Amino acid sequence: MRKICVIGTGYVGLVTGTCFADLGNQVTCLDIAPDKIEKLQRGEMPIYEPGLEELVARNVAGKRLTFTTSYPDAVPGAEFIFIAVGTPSGVDGEADLQYVRMAAESVADVMTNYTIIINKSTVPVGTGDSVAEILRERGKQPGVDFDVVSNPEFLREGSAMFDFQMPDRVVLGSTNRAAAEKVAQLYLPLRCSIMITDLRTAEMIKYASNAFLATRISFINEIATICEKLGADVKEVAAGMGMDKRIGRAFLDAGVGYGGSCFPKDVKALTWMAEINGCHPQMLRAVMEINRDQRRQAVTKLRDLLGTLRGKTIAVWGVAFKPNTDDVRESPALDIVHILQTEGAHIRAYDPVAVENARKISHGIQFCDSAYTAAENADAVVLVTEWNEFKNLDFERVAATMKNKILIDGRNIYDAERMQAFGFTYRGVGRGYGSS
Ligand SMILES: NC(=O)c1ccc[n+]([C@@H]2O[C@H](COP(=O)([O-])OP(=O)(O)OC[C@H]3O[C@@H](n4cnc5c(N)ncnc54)[C@H](O)[C@@H]3O)[C@@H](O)[C@H]2O)c1
Repeated sequence: MRKICVIGTGYVGLVTGTCFADLGNQVTCLDIAPDKIEKLQRGEMPIYEPGLEELVARNVAGKRLTFTTSYPDAVPGAEFIFIAVGTPSGVDGEADLQYVRMAAESVADVMTNYTIIINKSTVPVGTGDSVAEILRERGKQPGVDFDVVSNPEFLREGSAMFDFQMPDRVVLGSTNRAAAEKVAQLYLPLRCSIMITDLRTAEMIKYASNAFLATRISFINEIATICEKLGADVKEVAAGMGMDKRIGRAFLDAGVGYGGSCFPKDVKALTWMAEINGCHPQMLRAVMEINRDQRRQAVTKLRDLLGTLRGKTIAVWGVAFKPNTDDVRESPALDIVHILQTEGAHIRAYDPVAVENARKISHGIQFCDSAYTAAENADAVVLVTEWNEFKNLDFERVAATMKNKILIDGRNIYDAERMQAFGFTYRGVGRGYGSS
């Protein structure tokens, strides 16, 4: 049993804290947002993540997991402090490190014993050194030592618990290998591969991994655009490519592009890091450009079919940036909604869990209580987030209530011929002449 403090109770921090508690450690989760901590203390989840509520309840009941807003309560006595605060994009695309710095300063102010500070937030290469500097310069108690370890997080929202408990690998970076090895002990019960590197290499592994995954998505999207012109079906192209073990099938789904709180900001931040260091990250720029164009292509298809979007009613299925999460940060759906609204369309939208978050950052959307009600009297439906419940709808019912039976399948989840049989004019992404 180790004493752990996790700073930030978002998608990463809350999952990390809860899973470490479940491994038998004594965990305090700390956040500066009092509303989140009050919710957690009442047993309510501030985020939607399948399986999280049950695991939190079990560990709270087992007295291994507590929640606080107080650094003086959480930090002294902790052996390991994980920093899992947000690192959003700054104005020029750089990672905004204000929350990481603030967390490091607050730790420095109250730290009373040797502690290992672990950066779980995705941070630019060199941030581990800056955190160490803050702790060294601001540490109030003379003689209190510390080490900084980078431990980038690779979990996916929607399967975060599984990803924590069954990781492909754990990466740990430090200037002091002994400190990284101590952190490795925390992960030993997971029986996973653990890679220990220097601090900067660990930080870079995270950015390179996300940039590579984003690149695969933009690559297949570019292939999809070419497929549309040449009459090939990108779904089958991806399946055929994926059978090659050197390539694999993952992240080769053509669609309206990637979104969320990680890929967009991390590709941007890596590009920025490269540029200010005199590199020319042409491929990363192309990845971002293709991703932006994918949103526009969906709108272009609608415009081509409807003539104009002014005064048209468009139903949007899914507003979360991907299924099984309520996270709407950089959601492709909201980007598409924004373009449609700019062109004068009315939007009716439905999402199983993300409506509350979408309301906070959008305007003018009429939210509906089901996919069916959203489609009623609509001139077109755009499927943006491939929630399972959208896969097996009663399409006769959908078609019967729509004004124009136009279906834009932004994730290629439907069978083109089947949809055409229901009377839809169907457009997927890169699916041959007839259906894209
Ligand atoms: N969300 C993901 O799927 C994911 C996956 C891998 C890595 N990451 C990275 O992990 C980090 C956290 O991401 P997230 O999605 O969990 O963020 P989030 O926005 O969901 O949560 C961050 C939390 O930190 C809290 N916070 C901010 N400043 C604080 C401070 N000084 N002290 C205490 N709490 C503070 C906020 O109130 C918030 O609750 C980011 O760097 C992100 O890039 C995220």
